[in-house]
Amino acid sequence: MSITVRRLAREEVEERIDDLAALRIEVFRAYPYLYDGDVAYERDYLATYMDAPGAVVIGAFDGEELVGAATASPLGEHHPEFAKPFADRSLDVRDFFYFGESVLKARYRGAGIGVRFFEERERAAREAGYAKCVFSAVVRPVDHPMRPADYMPLNRFWEKRGYRRIDGLVTSFSWRDVGAGEASEKPMEYWMKDIVPAR
Ligand SMILES: CC(C)(COP(=O)(O)OP(=O)(O)OC[C@H]1O[C@@H](n2cnc3c(N)ncnc32)[C@H](O)[C@@H]1OP(=O)(O)O)[C@@H](O)C(=O)NCCC(=O)NCCS
Repeated sequence: MSITVRRLAREEVEERIDDLAALRIEVFRAYPYLYDGDVAYERDYLATYMDAPGAVVIGAFDGEELVGAATASPLGEHHPEFAKPFADRSLDVRDFFYFGESVLKARYRGAGIGVRFFEERERAAREAGYAKCVFSAVVRPVDHPMRPADYMPLNRFWEKRGYRRIDGLVTSFSWRDVGAGEASEKPMEYWMKDIVPAR
């Protein structure tokens, strides 16, 4: 399997917006996200995202097909829900580079593409002068009825990349779960790593 992982130019993101939307909807439909996505919302979200100064999108390609993607931007440029707990703790939001998501089609997993997504986003953070990378992850109760029996949390994968859970730092974000009538708030916890900025 020969997969190319690279940062997308802005025009490419615009051209690929429907592919990116479809990818997010497909991957986030699974546990633990269980996101019942809609293309119109996704298009809008991605378009707004690309207007944020310093935002980057990394793509994974099998030939011409986009099979995975990862995003990152300065924390202050993302949805305000994600910056709020930092400001509440008097942490300077401008110190953090935030990783929005990594999504990879299931058949391409386990071949190191997820590691490449982290490398490329950390590179973007260093280039932009950041010393702290952070991301958030949804927290589901361990006895959640839709948790697959063979579900493997990503905690060890993240720890191996050098990330540590920030104790007590939590936000909440709302979306509609698969099978639910309306959107509901989910708790999201944060993981962080110190890096050496390039400038
Ligand atoms: C997160 C994701 C992109 C990882 O991609 P991936 O390409 O399969 O990961 P890699 O192949 O780079 O894995 C690297 C290492 O992590 C390990 N790993 C991968 N998934 C793991 C898991 N669920 N639990 C424990 N270890 C895991 C691999 O075994 C590998 O270990 P090694 O370095 O010892 O060989 C992919 O699992 C995914 O799209 N998941 C669904 C969406 C999601 O939850 N995204 C994260 C939040 S936005």
